[in-house]
Amino acid sequence: MTGVEVKVEGLTKSFGPATIWSDVTLTLPPGEVSVLLGPSGTGKSVFLKTLIGLLKPERGSIVINDVDLVRCRESELYEIRKLFGVLFQDGALFGSMNLYDNIAFPLREHTRKSESQIRDVVAEKMEMVGLAGDEGKLPGEISGGMRKRAGLARALVLDPAIILFDEPDSGLDPVRTAYLNQLIIDLNAQTDSTFLIVTHDINTAQTVPDNIGLLYRKHLAMFGPREQLLTSDEPVVAQFLNGRREGPIGMSEEKDTAQAEREMAEAGDLEGLPPLKPQLAPSTGMPDRQAVHRRRERVAAMLHELPEPARRAIEESEQDVPGPAWTGGDTDERPTDIHPRITDDTPPPPGRHQFRDGGA
Ligand SMILES: Nc1ncnc2c1ncn2[C@@H]1O[C@H](COP(=O)(O)OP(=O)(O)OP(=O)(O)O)[C@@H](O)[C@H]1O
Ligand SMILES: [Mg+2]
Repeated sequence: MTGVEVKVEGLTKSFGPATIWSDVTLTLPPGEVSVLLGPSGTGKSVFLKTLIGLLKPERGSIVINDVDLVRCRESELYEIRKLFGVLFQDGALFGSMNLYDNIAFPLREHTRKSESQIRDVVAEKMEMVGLAGDEGKLPGEISGGMRKRAGLARALVLDPAIILFDEPDSGLDPVRTAYLNQLIIDLNAQTDSTFLIVTHDINTAQTVPDNIGLLYRKHLAMFGPREQLLTSDEPVVAQFLNGRREGPIGMSEEKDTAQAEREMAEAGDLEGLPPLKPQLAPSTGMPDRQAVHRRRERVAAMLHELPEPARRAIEESEQDVPGPAWTGGDTDERPTDIHPRITDDTPPPPGRHQFRDGGA
């Protein structure tokens, strides 16, 4: 199923007197992978829950297939929800059900499939996430990484057009995170669904998404092509990407500007942004990501609105992309030596078994 566009405008969410974020405006382009970054407690999970209509915002709109989720009838919301697959932050599996029943749950709840059809879908998705053979296990008997993947399999059973991941990589070791990132790109190539991933993993942010947003100080500080955030000179971006103490983000809250500036002056020469890494490509044998082609045109049309470093980074990465000539720049300088974007950093394709946790 081709992904659908999610258009969020002027969204504001409060709990009682506490505003979590306000005036959030962004569009998730159909079929593209977007990442949402932000310090802990800035309301990223609340944002995902608002997107699927579990939490009601005070202001703004969320439009999907011409329906505004904030104002639509209950029956319309029910239909729109079927477009979503969600991997909640804690996996949210039913503790008393084995993995098979957990993953079959949305199919039994939302479709009229027979048990034998359900068995086929569950087997396919469990194989996809490397859990084949673990059908009978209870969530309490498996590792955190396996629970994540079971949650992922459950999020996929209805072939959702929009997939939301809340920290799919938290609690995973770096190797499994690399496999998970590759799995996300491969899934996107296979489904062309629209993905939104909340993550704290900088490597994921650098190598997976087409677009990146940053929730910060109760606002969406930025949302755009990955190159825009990854080359941004905002102090908060450098602090985040380098994972350091000096900068506007504190342990329990965001620091005030004066304190942040003082600390940064005291720290002296802080390293700049890490170098831009290439985006992961689908594994060998996977289809092309359709979104990549759509994104090229979309980004070419908005290139003049982007800051200079982002524009330069996009133009440079364009030189690595195979396909018809790039039309975004003002010049025709395009090398003839084109090659696919695979580097030594690209992890090997996830042989299904390599992705499995070691042991039980
Ligand atoms: N149902 C709720 N009622 C009241 N307050 C809530 C509710 N859900 C979340 N909050 C508050 O909203 C704020 C944002 O929470 P949220 O879980 O979205 O943060 P987050 O950005 O996902 O953080 P983390 O990175 O640690 O997961 C927190 O202050 C939290 O206490
Ligand atoms: Mg969260």
